[in-house]
Amino acid sequence: MRDFDREEHLRLLDRAAELKRLRGTPEHPKPLADKSIAIVLEKASTRTRISFHVAAAELGAHAMPMTSKDLQIGRGEPLEDTARIFSRYVHCFVLRTFGHDRVETLAKYATIPVINALTDEYHPCQLLADLMTVREARNGRLDGMRVAWVGDGNNMANCWMESAAIFGFDLVLACPPSHRPHADIIARAKGTSDVSITFTDDVDAAIKGADVVTTDVWASMGQESEAIERQRIFKDYIVTEARMLRAKKDAIFLHCLPAHRGEEVEAAVIDGPQSRVWDEAENRLHTQKALLETLLAV
Ligand code: CP
Ligand code: NVA
Repeated sequence: MRDFDREEHLRLLDRAAELKRLRGTPEHPKPLADKSIAIVLEKASTRTRISFHVAAAELGAHAMPMTSKDLQIGRGEPLEDTARIFSRYVHCFVLRTFGHDRVETLAKYATIPVINALTDEYHPCQLLADLMTVREARNGRLDGMRVAWVGDGNNMANCWMESAAIFGFDLVLACPPSHRPHADIIARAKGTSDVSITFTDDVDAAIKGADVVTTDVWASMGQESEAIERQRIFKDYIVTEARMLRAKKDAIFLHCLPAHRGEEVEAAVIDGPQSRVWDEAENRLHTQKALLETLLAV
């Protein structure tokens, strides 16, 4: 997320809103004719796969979704060589993978833009959609609000911390002490800003007065073997209807999906009137269009 400053993020989010308005009209631009976009997924994906594919197609580009099993990286070809080869064929590399170092290695050796479509540490494309959804609910504003994160100090939590530092809103994370974000990621997110990022293990206190309440699964992709242990650790870190009453009356609920109803969130919340999760998922399409256009249109 830090590759864009506040103004660049806002320009991108404004453009995403414009592309959303223009979708399906003759005015919708197609600035990426003759561009090819590789989408390599080393983990499962529904929203990211489809939204990048459709975004590319509607901008006039050719999208190529593939898994590492289809490629020689699945048989051990170095990422460095893969980066060099893709740079000779396509105009952008979208990668979903495990360690964040894999995206960084790819970006180092590629001569084309590389987009992080989720790593163990970060999920910035999701945050673009989340921030767009928040702006839609708050008349375009991202400042002067309190965001409550409930659950695991994971890739989404890390990106919420980066967003808080970029936009200056208050973020409170209710995580079990053993599963807070890593200290170096907190320090990197805060940078030199004096942003208010606080931690608690009291979910009720975190949600009190919040404008946005958000959560994510207890076991992320790659943590399947810890799932049972995590159910024990996180069992009180659930967003319930009763807890939502502590948030502001007009608070919204976000979840990047996929969700586990009855674990991190009650069905009554995710399927209830404060939930914006379907808009949030749709906004992946519009924000990624703005991102691809920003990186690739000349
Ligand atoms: N939110 C999200 O990234 O969903 P997918 O894993 O389905 O792409
Ligand atoms: N934290 C989740 C997000 C899924 C979109 C994971 O990494 O699996």
